[in-house]
Amino acid sequence: MSFIELNNIVKVFKDPQRGTDMLAIDHIDLSVEKKELVCLLGPSGCGKSTLLNMIAGFEKPTSGEVKVDGKLITGPGADRGMVFQQPNLMPWLPVWDNVAFALKLKGLSKKDRQAAAQPFIEAVKLNGFENHLPGELSGGMAQRVGIARALLQNPAVVLMDEPFAALDAQTKLDMQEELVTIWQRYSSTIVFVTHSVDEALILGTQVVVMTHRPGKIRETISIDLDRPRDITSAGFNDIKRHVLDLIRQESVLAKQEASLRL
Ligand SMILES: Nc1ncnc2c1ncn2[C@@H]1O[C@H](COP(=O)(O)OP(=O)(O)OP(=O)(O)O)[C@@H](O)[C@H]1O
Ligand SMILES: [Mg+2]
Repeated sequence: MSFIELNNIVKVFKDPQRGTDMLAIDHIDLSVEKKELVCLLGPSGCGKSTLLNMIAGFEKPTSGEVKVDGKLITGPGADRGMVFQQPNLMPWLPVWDNVAFALKLKGLSKKDRQAAAQPFIEAVKLNGFENHLPGELSGGMAQRVGIARALLQNPAVVLMDEPFAALDAQTKLDMQEELVTIWQRYSSTIVFVTHSVDEALILGTQVVVMTHRPGKIRETISIDLDRPRDITSAGFNDIKRHVLDLIRQESVLAKQEASLRL
């Protein structure tokens, strides 16, 4: 049995206003082993967030089942940390209190929350900013708080939905490098959603290329290039060419199907 298992997942969204059903995920099987960093890559609307939200427990599959560490997922849980595209911080709480927010809900004292937050603040290189408010942080720093918060919740399973999409190019590269360090340090299992081919190939131990909607798995590619990954290397570009080719084929298929519907 794998650490994270998605078995025969189908997701249909009902649209009561239009009286129509929309098939978003069409029979997906996915297995993620412990300590993998799996990137879900696919075009907008192919169901990446839906799939991740089902692992997080925010969405329920219409049919099929999601298991993490052998347990059926029926809702959100403290065993899975989530990092969103926007960090969603509490603007009135300082950095340390945002990082330790889960412990505030559990009623831990300020001293215990601060002590618990500190190693994760250091892991994301925010030492010295513990008492800053979110409004005083840059986009990259705010995203680091979101990562520290997810790690504190549980560094063993981290689910990330395009967490670096809104960052500038250099900050994005820095954050990708830091994420790899964090992943190695905590031996985390990470499922990372992106629509950037470079990002998926820089980060992933595996890249799962999805089809256009309704989402299916087009191909799963194991990436065993040395780290840090050299995006100019021949090996990197061979895989990139293959992935871009798959994406191009998917885009052609999507256009053909759209024209048949007209
Ligand atoms: N709560 C919802 N209600 C109705 N339809 C939804 C809901 N969430 C997602 N969908 C639909 O399901 C499909 C997949 O959406 P999803 O957000 O998973 O795509 P995505 O791959 O994450 O796209 P993007 O790259 O743009 O974030 C889309 O067509 C979307 O409109
Ligand atoms: Mg999405």
